[in-house]
Amino acid sequence: MAAPLTLALSKGRILDETLPLLVAAGIRPVDDPASRKLILRTERDDVRLLVIRASDVPTFVEHGAADLGVAGKDVLLEHGGAGLYEPLDLGIARCRLMVAAPVGAAEPTGRLRIATKYVAATRRHYAARGEQVEIIKLYGSMELAPLVGLADRIVDLVDTGNTLRANGLAPIEEVCAISSRLVVNKAAMKLNHDRVKALVARLTEAVAARDAAA
Ligand code: ATP
Ligand code: PRP
Repeated sequence: MAAPLTLALSKGRILDETLPLLVAAGIRPVDDPASRKLILRTERDDVRLLVIRASDVPTFVEHGAADLGVAGKDVLLEHGGAGLYEPLDLGIARCRLMVAAPVGAAEPTGRLRIATKYVAATRRHYAARGEQVEIIKLYGSMELAPLVGLADRIVDLVDTGNTLRANGLAPIEEVCAISSRLVVNKAAMKLNHDRVKALVARLTEAVAARDAAA
């Protein structure tokens, strides 16, 4: 039998929100997704799932360690998208990448200091308006940066706004809307064309059926 098609997902909201779509597309895990297993078998011998860090999904797919993957647009913007097709917006894990600042803060003088995990998207956002900013790369808890004088503003994901509010911050402007996308390794699209195309088609139908029922 040919090697199984391998689909990379991340634990948490992407796994939780992708599973119903996979099941609708005929792919149901046999192994418990809540287990600590990193490779999940499915009811189909020719499809398996990898459970990895969200920001590692494009790397696994780019290098062909996974044929397909599900990744947030935020992660894809940072990765750059080399070696990947992005055939389908799954419409899950929706949120917005936003600039935020402390409530009532005075307009900073001089070059803005922006703390973020999303360096590429932030650079592009300010470059598009010709504004020179200093970007400070963080790996998490961006909200803290303006509270302790590390930065004037942050660029982070916002859904309900609860995290910003809890830290005395408010959104200022949107950088872009975010949702999770199906990504496909370019070589796998050629070499496994029929199987990959069929899987993309079934997932496209599952997304359309979900949206029609909403
Ligand atoms: P990593 O483990 O690689 O650091 P992470 O902790 O950001 O990644 P998750 O929190 O599971 O991983 O987020 C996965 C994706 O879900 C993000 O890349 C983003 O696209 C989306 N996302 C993040 N936060 C929210 C949120 N509050 N509401 C909706 N979607 C979100
Ligand atoms: C994400 C993101 C924000 C928060 C925004 O964090 O990094 O901090 O959600 O959502 P809200 O607007 O609804 O508060 P997450 O909950 O995934 O935790 P993390 O920081 O561990 O990724």
